[in-house]
Amino acid sequence: MADPAPVRLCFVCLGNICRSPTAEGVMAALVDEAGLTGRIVVDSAGTGDWHRGELPDERARAEARRRGVELTSRATTFRAGDAHAYDLVLAMDRSNLADLLDRTPEPALRERIHLLREFDPALTPDDRWGGEVPDPWAGGEQGFVVVYDLIEAACRGLLAHVRETLPAPEDG
Ligand code: 4NP
Repeated sequence: MADPAPVRLCFVCLGNICRSPTAEGVMAALVDEAGLTGRIVVDSAGTGDWHRGELPDERARAEARRRGVELTSRATTFRAGDAHAYDLVLAMDRSNLADLLDRTPEPALRERIHLLREFDPALTPDDRWGGEVPDPWAGGEQGFVVVYDLIEAACRGLLAHVRETLPAPEDG
């Protein structure tokens, strides 16, 4: 029998050079570790297009490398209609979320768009970051450490959520 269609995820931030490529790399590593390569596929994009074609910011790459993850994606832009291509679109902050919803008028597609940290099981109402992954671009290297930790926790929760939607291997 043919393999079931993969679950397709797209992580989105503003520039697609700091937060969303980190989430893409972290999630890809978690998916591989879980033995789910090819069953969950990951992508990322930015709502802005200033950095199209660039590798991730060196500070994001250095922090990921320190944790054993190589970030190799090139920046692309999330355009109107792109939500069709994904099962879930994960925004890093509420500004990204609003921009994604502006580009996605169709109600059925809007349901696919969420804040990434909604999937962090440890998220509390008094969260220091207001439930967002804060933009680290204009700050120092410590911001990239915080961002990595927030992304990893949320991606672990996201993986658990997506796993529940996958058919068991014996069903497929
Ligand atoms: P990101 O960070 O959205 O996490 O990729 C940023 C990168 C670049 C800019 C802003 C945020 N920028 O204004 O160029």
